[in-house]
Amino acid sequence: MNRLTGCAFLVVTLLLPLAAASFANSRPGKTTSFNKDWLFYLGDASGAESPDFDASQWRKLNLPHDWSIEAEFNKSNPAGTGGGALPGGLGWYRKTFSIAATDKGRSVWIDFDGVYRNSEVWINGHYLGKRPYGYSSFEYELTPYLNYGDAKNVIAVKVDNSKQPNSRWYSGSGIYRNVWLTVTDKILVDHWGTYITTPQVSAQSATVNVKTKIRNQLSSLHPVMLTTTVVNAAGARVGRAVSKEELHPDSVSEVSQEITFKEPILWSVDKPYLYKAISEVEAGGKVVDRYETPFGVRHFNFDRDKGFSLNGTPMKINGVCDHHDLGALGAAINTRALERQLEILKGMGVNGIRTSHNPPAPELLDLADRMGFIVMDEAFDMWKIEKTRFDYHLDWDQWHKRDLEDMLLRDRNHPSVCIWSIGNEIPEQWGNNPEAGPRARELAGIVKELDKTRPITSACNNVDEKNPIITSGALDLVGTNYAHTRMGDFLKMFPDRPIIGTETVSSLATRGHYDMPSDEIRRWPHKWDEDFKGGNPDLTCSAYDNCSAPWGSTQEETLKQVKKYDFFAGQFIWTGFDYIGEPTPYPWPARSSYFGIVDLAGFPKDTYYLYQSEWTKKPVVHLLPHWNWKPGQTIDVVAYFNTDEVELFLNGKSLGTKRKTGDELHVTWHVPFEAGTLKAVGRTGGKVILTDEVKTAGEPAKIVLTADRNAIRADGSDLSFVTVKVLDKNGVVVPNADNLVRFQLTGPASIAGVDNGSETSMESFKADHRKAFNGLCLAIIQSKEAPGRITLKATSEGLEGAAVVIVSK
Ligand code: GAL
Repeated sequence: MNRLTGCAFLVVTLLLPLAAASFANSRPGKTTSFNKDWLFYLGDASGAESPDFDASQWRKLNLPHDWSIEAEFNKSNPAGTGGGALPGGLGWYRKTFSIAATDKGRSVWIDFDGVYRNSEVWINGHYLGKRPYGYSSFEYELTPYLNYGDAKNVIAVKVDNSKQPNSRWYSGSGIYRNVWLTVTDKILVDHWGTYITTPQVSAQSATVNVKTKIRNQLSSLHPVMLTTTVVNAAGARVGRAVSKEELHPDSVSEVSQEITFKEPILWSVDKPYLYKAISEVEAGGKVVDRYETPFGVRHFNFDRDKGFSLNGTPMKINGVCDHHDLGALGAAINTRALERQLEILKGMGVNGIRTSHNPPAPELLDLADRMGFIVMDEAFDMWKIEKTRFDYHLDWDQWHKRDLEDMLLRDRNHPSVCIWSIGNEIPEQWGNNPEAGPRARELAGIVKELDKTRPITSACNNVDEKNPIITSGALDLVGTNYAHTRMGDFLKMFPDRPIIGTETVSSLATRGHYDMPSDEIRRWPHKWDEDFKGGNPDLTCSAYDNCSAPWGSTQEETLKQVKKYDFFAGQFIWTGFDYIGEPTPYPWPARSSYFGIVDLAGFPKDTYYLYQSEWTKKPVVHLLPHWNWKPGQTIDVVAYFNTDEVELFLNGKSLGTKRKTGDELHVTWHVPFEAGTLKAVGRTGGKVILTDEVKTAGEPAKIVLTADRNAIRADGSDLSFVTVKVLDKNGVVVPNADNLVRFQLTGPASIAGVDNGSETSMESFKADHRKAFNGLCLAIIQSKEAPGRITLKATSEGLEGAAVVIVSK
């Protein structure tokens, strides 16, 4: 038996209003957003790094920014449909700013949370450096090159995403994550300078170890005092440690402190409770730095026989994989958009997120800490062997150590992070490659140097005893991708180590499209021929959960296996949300994936309710498909439910009561279609718990708008997601409606994007109109920095229009 025990951690953000999230807030008052008023030019601009360069004609914008999402889909874009059929290219950003004269003698730092890709940065013409990997966060010190007072400074950033393809999914291009400016004294807590673990946790007490790196930038010896105070979520002090340290000139010193406090409230997925460590550095009788580190107290265990447990309670990791794009917003991070994705997943019962296949935006981990998700934090999609021609394998030798270290340093304090993944489906795992073992061990060594409290895995699709990455000894946790039919053999195949499904399922579905018979499973190949030798001519996949990639399974096939084996710690389903790119199995004009349980616009597909019925305690009865068919046609009617039984009625007449038997996860009736109302009544213990119904819709007659939030913050970043439904005259959603909807917005806001969840739509995401797809579309409304009343009107030819009011304050 082999046990891995993890401890607990820090988060690097304050629980401030959403839009202000990020690690940088760990220094209140000293770190500010550096997102506003940049100038942008798409193309190369020779000499643009020079402060004297004339950029007056460039476009003015605020970050985060993704230029690819603004472009048109095109078959000939070199990213291919795999990359979302959007262009890459090269772009420049510049920002002119001033630094107060009173800051002279202090230190100034710039932090980029992520730039895709090959960023190069100059300050006042001085080269600061290059970061090829588009998913790493990095910092530069600006101090030696700055002008103070009225004199201007110019920061210039060149972003080169022109060599394509370099990704198997849509990456986005540009400074697509937040940028921060920090001004500190010369004695400061270093970058990502705290490391918090909880070596002892019980119901009675917790011991918190805080390692703090203090940087002395002065050329003299300095005595300092470090006071670390732990406060609970209400801000009340629960413990404190004080240490004295002599700082050598131009050095970084690490101070280790222990704080024990009573009756800790443990962090869990149901109750994600956070504490905060406040580090104060005192020198020369004054506090020179104050650095805040939220953290959680929890312990977890991966057991070879019993799977995963959190704080001693066994639980399955019911996780999903997601890429980083936010649908119509592209790769540009928006905290509210990400929070909405996580809320939707939480509603389905998801408790785990895999950051496939790269380090996420820091906001994802902040949200996961706060909302309660177990995170598998993944570093790479490839090592030294390429997956696409111009991908990170070209940067591997020079950068992998630095990029992996930076991920660890940035993320190792988040209580949500419970697994480090050193790679996804790494090509070195095949063909007895002699480099696989040494490379895996080198990476594991880098991880263990910086954090020993979480297991290391690698997501292996060569699910084989001889896989050289698995046999290398580098992995603490065997990560299997797919191979669900062999799950029963895994314990035998992989002795001595716990096992998790790092990637599973890869089922395919188009929201609202149904191919019968519902129990005939279509395993569709990787890429459909350009001239369609099969598949659906309209490039749809069936939402009956009867369509999957051949290497994967339907949702139910894998779920049944995962439920069966206690040793299997859980799974990360491919994927929670549809994402841009990788439209397996179809060619152009398909341009986004079909793998999501939720579509690109955030509208759940039917299997969302399968999981909800299994993974949540809320009562669920969900009926599919829609009820618009040809008279007399026999329709497969499916119900997902967690009541004891479901009785189906067609126009008031009972078609029988069904219960799930054996390992069944749904029930099916074969119903000759007759227009009207199909109703499912869910009963437990003979009592009606809830019902669901679908009705035959007539012609489209009107639209209705529903905002997910009618009040948003006037901070220039907050969002309201407005769902548009096309209804018939009786208020029934028209299941195949594709009416063109036009939006008119008044008030202090803009339309940040539009979508409808179609995998094949060629319409731009940046528009004031959208066709409905299977009855629905979406408008994303973004606040400005002015309060006021926002009205969104939607009109469509021949339909009664609608309006919704959102208050921005
Ligand atoms: C996996 C891969 C994912 C995605 C998926 C589609 O093999 O890790 O990135 O490509 O297949 O099924």
